[in-house]
Amino acid sequence: MTATICGTGSFIPSYTMDNHDIARLVDTSDEWIQERTGIARRHIIHGETTISMAAEAGRRALENAGISAEEVDLILVSTISSNLLLPCAACEVQKELGAKNAVCFDLNAACTGFVIAYNTAMAYLSGGIYRTALVIGSESLSNLTNWKDRGTCILFGDGAGAAVLQADGSVAEGFMGQGGNYIPVTHSDGGRGGALTCKSRHDFNGLTDEKQWNDASYYMQMDGQAVFKFAVKSVPEAITEVLKLNQVNAEEISFYVMHQANRRIVEAVAKRLGVPLEKFPMNLFEYGNTSSASIPILLDEMNREGRLVKGQKLVLAGFGAGLSWGASIVEWRR
Ligand code: ACO
Repeated sequence: MTATICGTGSFIPSYTMDNHDIARLVDTSDEWIQERTGIARRHIIHGETTISMAAEAGRRALENAGISAEEVDLILVSTISSNLLLPCAACEVQKELGAKNAVCFDLNAACTGFVIAYNTAMAYLSGGIYRTALVIGSESLSNLTNWKDRGTCILFGDGAGAAVLQADGSVAEGFMGQGGNYIPVTHSDGGRGGALTCKSRHDFNGLTDEKQWNDASYYMQMDGQAVFKFAVKSVPEAITEVLKLNQVNAEEISFYVMHQANRRIVEAVAKRLGVPLEKFPMNLFEYGNTSSASIPILLDEMNREGRLVKGQKLVLAGFGAGLSWGASIVEWRR
């Protein structure tokens, strides 16, 4: 069975914090943050939650696809920052949308999460198990951010993005056939996981609540330079690997929709691949790094701006904690 994205949606909280606001919390400046990251502001939840944003992004994606909630067979939410441990965010989205026929589960692969969730849904769809999937990335990273740590608090933001995937009933002409399904490339290396960590607040460890709130290990901690080096090496390798595996030339790719972490990382990846930067759309100036929400938010913006045209091939590429990274080829067939 072949399957493809047939609608996108996103939700961004309206409350913003710009770099000047951050400079009132830690010793930094707008100039430093923009030069080192390309980020100018980030949107932060103010009453919204990971689940409410996921549901709204999902609703908008279904509307965009012209598909009813009852038609959805699978809801997958990629998140590291759900406001509930139980039930899972996807079940809460199901309830909000009235998608009563869907099976629902969450997935945690940090900033690679949307790529892996997309691949998971595609595997179900192309295997003929389900026909319609709603794949969502939603994050409230502001809840996991140590607002006293200038090495991390400048980077992250909140938001949600979603895509509806549907099998079209036709049989794939092999994975690399025209309009067929493409084999993704994904990798994990738990041995290097120490570069980006955050302890669960459910791991009490005998600490009182107050001690947990003051313990930096219960917030995101990162070796920024190690993550930077990992990203600029691993992402181009994964993109090269996925193109080779599917016998697609780099020139056939219209856009590389990459995880939005840092402008310098995107620039370095484009340079290593020898691809013009115009093929790497960016919106991190406005949103910062929204982890697994960043790729579907960008995809939704491109879709609504009319930048995506039937027949175009895109590469989705993510990297993040785990460590994990990967790339998938998507053929735009809306
Ligand atoms: N403002 C001002 N100065 C700062 C700041 C700040 N916010 N942060 C660090 N500095 C200082 C450092 O203390 C250091 O000073 P020193 O030279 O006196 O020691 C100097 O600036 C340089 O610090 P570096 O850490 O070398 O700065 P770098 O250029 O590497 O930029 C950054 C730091 C932006 C974090 C970068 O390393 C980066 O973007 N790394 C990748 C992070 C990333 O993408 N993470 C997300 C992964 S996805 C996921 O799974 C969530």
